[in-house]
Amino acid sequence: MRRAQASDLELLVRHRESMWLDMHGYSARQIRAAAARSRAWIRREFRSGRYIAFVAEGPGGRVAGSGAIWLRSSQPYPGPRPRPDAPYVMSMYTERASRRSGVATRLVREMIRWARRKGYRRITLHASAQGAPVYRRIGFEDSNEMRFNLVRLGKDRPASRAPGRPIRSGRGRA
Ligand SMILES: CC(C)(COP(=O)(O)OP(=O)(O)OC[C@H]1O[C@@H](n2cnc3c(N)ncnc32)[C@H](O)[C@@H]1OP(=O)(O)O)[C@@H](O)C(=O)NCCC(=O)NCCS
Repeated sequence: MRRAQASDLELLVRHRESMWLDMHGYSARQIRAAAARSRAWIRREFRSGRYIAFVAEGPGGRVAGSGAIWLRSSQPYPGPRPRPDAPYVMSMYTERASRRSGVATRLVREMIRWARRKGYRRITLHASAQGAPVYRRIGFEDSNEMRFNLVRLGKDRPASRAPGRPIRSGRGRA
């Protein structure tokens, strides 16, 4: 397990693309088109110190997976020791040949250790269907986040019912 360097940028971009591909939410064309934006975004956040990525390596230094903590800006709240930023786990990806051998688990545990050392109080993430059991096993809990899709985002993600729009019932308008 090692901290990613600036020279790992292409690896991190490739893993982020592969993550989207495996999550089946977007077409390969959409994902390729996002790669340049991902590269620029990761480079900027990495240079600013807000993107802390970890790379898992197997025998002979072969890359097995990677993942990142993004320190996103957090709003003030009345808790103890409020911080201006909060760690968010993202871009988790394990190479197919290395799956189900604890790579992601070790990556996330490393991130938890890192965040604890830095004095953060909580880590959040959005889990894919494949990732959720892994995070739950580590101890992540489901939270109270809600969302409202303003537009249809994909075949499995329709727009949410618009405010004030009546729900159709079988016998006309409800
Ligand atoms: C989700 C993902 C990152 C998990 O990576 P992984 O390295 O296979 O995860 P782990 O090996 O730590 O855990 C996976 C499973 O293997 C099991 N496992 C862990 N170590 C094991 C071992 N030594 N032997 C056998 N199984 C093991 C875990 O218990 C876990 O079981 P579960 O799926 O029933 O919960 C990977 O599947 C992936 O890259 N998916 C596509 C992208 C994606 O969805 N990313 C997450 C975005 S939130």
